[in-house]
Amino acid sequence: MEETLIQIKNSALSLILDTLDKKTLEEVKLQFLGRSGKLTLKIKDIAKLPQERRPEVGRLANEVKKAIEDTIANQESGIRNQELRIKKQKIDISGPGIKPNIGHLHPMTQVLMDVIDVFKTLGFQAADGPEIETDYYNFEALNVPKYHPARDTQQTLYLDTRNSKVTPGEIILRTQTSAMQARIMEKAKPPLRVIAPGKNFRYEQVDASHSFEFWQVEGFLVDKEVRLTDLFGIIDYVLRKLMEERELKIKFATTNFPFVEPGVDTYIGCTVCKGRGCSFCKQSGWSEIMPAGMIHPNVLKKVGYDPQKVSGFAFAIGLSRLVTLKYQMDDLRLLTNPDLRILEQF
Ligand code: DAH
Repeated sequence: MEETLIQIKNSALSLILDTLDKKTLEEVKLQFLGRSGKLTLKIKDIAKLPQERRPEVGRLANEVKKAIEDTIANQESGIRNQELRIKKQKIDISGPGIKPNIGHLHPMTQVLMDVIDVFKTLGFQAADGPEIETDYYNFEALNVPKYHPARDTQQTLYLDTRNSKVTPGEIILRTQTSAMQARIMEKAKPPLRVIAPGKNFRYEQVDASHSFEFWQVEGFLVDKEVRLTDLFGIIDYVLRKLMEERELKIKFATTNFPFVEPGVDTYIGCTVCKGRGCSFCKQSGWSEIMPAGMIHPNVLKKVGYDPQKVSGFAFAIGLSRLVTLKYQMDDLRLLTNPDLRILEQF
């Protein structure tokens, strides 16, 4: 009998403490203390016990009953308080709200939109093209025939075409958005003003200033009597607009790309170290940002243009470069880092 009373107490208490609302609590109460509740029935059985055992068992039964009633009362007030708290919360419309985090455009996208806007004001149209490209558009059409040494600089990633009819080596991941030049020129006639933003891929070791995947904005203009000075003017205007820096230093140097003659490298004073020299600018104080040049006559000929009648220039903005320099970031990898503490700064 005593054992059963203790068992009743234990199971009653654990059920009571598990209840979360008044209705369930009431049900549990009935289950133990109701007219035919477990404890009520046991208390009735006490009368059947021998006379001398009744006082002791009776005392225990009273203790159990009191413990159950107290626990029910406690739980009841706990539930009531909780309900009050919730009710209060519901009607408190004066408390400050929690702002939902709606996010914003990635800095790369923001700057890309700025680039498109600036060029739009100069009459350039934006074009999109494939990331999986043919060897022809990526190299051949750009005056880079097979076995040209310039191919070595482009660490090309080739697609596995063994199970297709394609000649091995003909389909690649584009290494440069310059591939868009012939794609567009062979379909359209000058005058042309085009920019082609997009991703490029190279088999490259990742470090603070290199990635195997990077964005460029290719641009080109073909018309009558286009001169190198027109190219300088456009680059100067565009970079000053994009960098929003009055004191921006810009310099040009000669360089070689097979699809331009002459080739031009554009440098801006390193914004990370302000020209003092740092690891980002390889201690030179200058950052290369925009290779360019006058489109090679061979490229114009390949798309059916007459280099005697039209000329043009081409350029490529390293978009990731532009973003890191604009915001003085010393590592390109920050742009692909998903850490919100970085992204929230833009
Ligand atoms: N496509 C070249 C590269 O990624 C960059 C380049 C150089 C683009 C000169 C141009 C140009 O349009 O005129 O290495």
